[in-house]
Amino acid sequence: MSNRSDANQITRDYFESLLIEMRHMDGVLPDTSFELFGEKFDTPIMMAALSHLNSCCDDGMAEMARGAKAAGAVNWAGMGDIAELEGICKTGARTIKIVKPYVSDDEIMERLEHAEKNGCFAVGMDIDHSFSGRGEYDVVLGLHMEPKSQQQMKRFVSATKLPFVVKGVLSVTDAKKCVDIGAKAIVVSHHHGILPYAVPPLMVLPDIVKVVGGQVKIFVDCCVESGYDAFKALALGADAVCAGRVIMDPLRKEQAEGVRKDILRMNAELKGTMARTGCAKLSDIDSSMLHQRLGW
Ligand SMILES: Cc1cc2nc3c(=O)[nH]c(=O)nc-3n(C[C@H](O)[C@H](O)[C@H](O)COP(=O)(O)O)c2cc1C
Repeated sequence: MSNRSDANQITRDYFESLLIEMRHMDGVLPDTSFELFGEKFDTPIMMAALSHLNSCCDDGMAEMARGAKAAGAVNWAGMGDIAELEGICKTGARTIKIVKPYVSDDEIMERLEHAEKNGCFAVGMDIDHSFSGRGEYDVVLGLHMEPKSQQQMKRFVSATKLPFVVKGVLSVTDAKKCVDIGAKAIVVSHHHGILPYAVPPLMVLPDIVKVVGGQVKIFVDCCVESGYDAFKALALGADAVCAGRVIMDPLRKEQAEGVRKDILRMNAELKGTMARTGCAKLSDIDSSMLHQRLGW
């Protein structure tokens, strides 16, 4: 498949096509503090639901969690065994656990319960990992997946006391279903390019915000690499963003400290942009501050 179909490239190009105006008069020092599910954080730039980070360093997932905690950011955890999640939770990082759409609903229930018992502050599912690219049910590291119905999703939502997050929403259609099943948040995402030609999350975000904004928290991931990207996502209606692959190099080089520094770098870029656009707080950021490069 040619590079033109690469959803990551298309998404990156879309970020680059969005330009930011400046507003200096009556300016104020900005505050990036962010509240989620009743808890306060220093930044709306969160970790993405990564997994298998031992390829970066020993105990990679816990190192990422330590870095997120030190930066005052929300941590996320993707696929992984029970012992690994316990190690992540022991770091004290406030963590959202994303469970895969395993064929067995019992397995999903057990993992949701385990996450709740170990102190995660929200749970969820990456619904976009149910099919392979060949139109078959997905198999991830030998584990079988399947798409879940709204009825099944409702059971997962009501099986936990924690807020439930649906990750991998890339349409108004799924966003509305997330509201119907009682989800508290969604991640607008194409799972780092799982579908060739997938629409950039920021392109579909305004439509999603129009329909479900205020009913669920709306997060965005895929190709978020800077505070400028975070600003653009927030301007288009996201409550927060997740950054994944961008923190893997810092994690490899400096473990938790690398992650901490990179979150602080991105948050400083966000803060700098807020200062120069007259935004005192995150909710002041809006789409009137963005312009689209000609040719898009
Ligand atoms: C190494 C790696 C592991 C991942 N594992 C998971 C996972 O277990 N569960 C999940 O929902 N997403 C997983 N993702 C997807 C990320 O959460 C995210 O959606 C994606 O990487 C896009 O964000 P990014 O462009 O900032 O990396 C993984 C991504 C990477 C790079």
